[in-house]
Amino acid sequence: MKRRLVIGNWKLNGRLAANLSLLDAIRNGLSRIATGTQLAVCVPHVYIPQARAVLNGSAVAWGGQDVSAFGEGAYTGEVGAGMLVDLGCGYVLIGHSERRTLFGERDADVAVKVKRALSAGLVPVVCVGESLAERESGSMADVVLRQLNAVIEHCGVGAVGRFVVAYEPVWAIGTGLTASPAQAQEVHALIRARLAEVGGPVASRVPILYGGSVKPESAARLFAEQDVDGGLIGGASLNASDFLAICAA
Ligand code: PGA
Repeated sequence: MKRRLVIGNWKLNGRLAANLSLLDAIRNGLSRIATGTQLAVCVPHVYIPQARAVLNGSAVAWGGQDVSAFGEGAYTGEVGAGMLVDLGCGYVLIGHSERRTLFGERDADVAVKVKRALSAGLVPVVCVGESLAERESGSMADVVLRQLNAVIEHCGVGAVGRFVVAYEPVWAIGTGLTASPAQAQEVHALIRARLAEVGGPVASRVPILYGGSVKPESAARLFAEQDVDGGLIGGASLNASDFLAICAA
């Protein structure tokens, strides 16, 4: 059976009161979701204790949206992988396109963060994806594989099977433009083939998530594709009924 995973990415959204109703509604709506589908929410760091308080003991995991490339020490403002583990995080998003484009994260930074997360015992969600210009110039595959290879080279072949990949075409994030199921499948198959080339059979069990304007209306068709194992959901994860409908799909 395919391993299914849907992760909500709250980004820079949420306040205590709104979070509480959202988390409560997700927890209470779980009976609609097929067993075998893992759910998680990646919330702003300061709200991780709140997510833990509400979700502890439920089938929903929680995690952060970034992690420091450093272990510990004089790095003001940073949050380390061990700290996320202390708060019960299962997952951490790494290399989201917003981190890459707005905060200057390079492939090498992403790779170092993934290694930190793995050593601490977190499951990194490695985000990859091309911009519209890159797609239009025909370099989509080069970009996605370059981003993935940087992680494999730094973390080693043994890391394959210990991280999740999220394919998020930059042109589809928050734009309302979703990749077609065939477009998503094409890139997911490319990612799977690369993972298999270096990691062998374990590649078939690596969840490869699609992200970019996934909505309840588009989720089922995307998730029906052979190599699409679930989704990384931004905007729609802020609404409990939309998020649950996507998870049910
Ligand atoms: P979106 O965001 O669903 O709002 O497009 C996805 C993401 O950035 O993870």
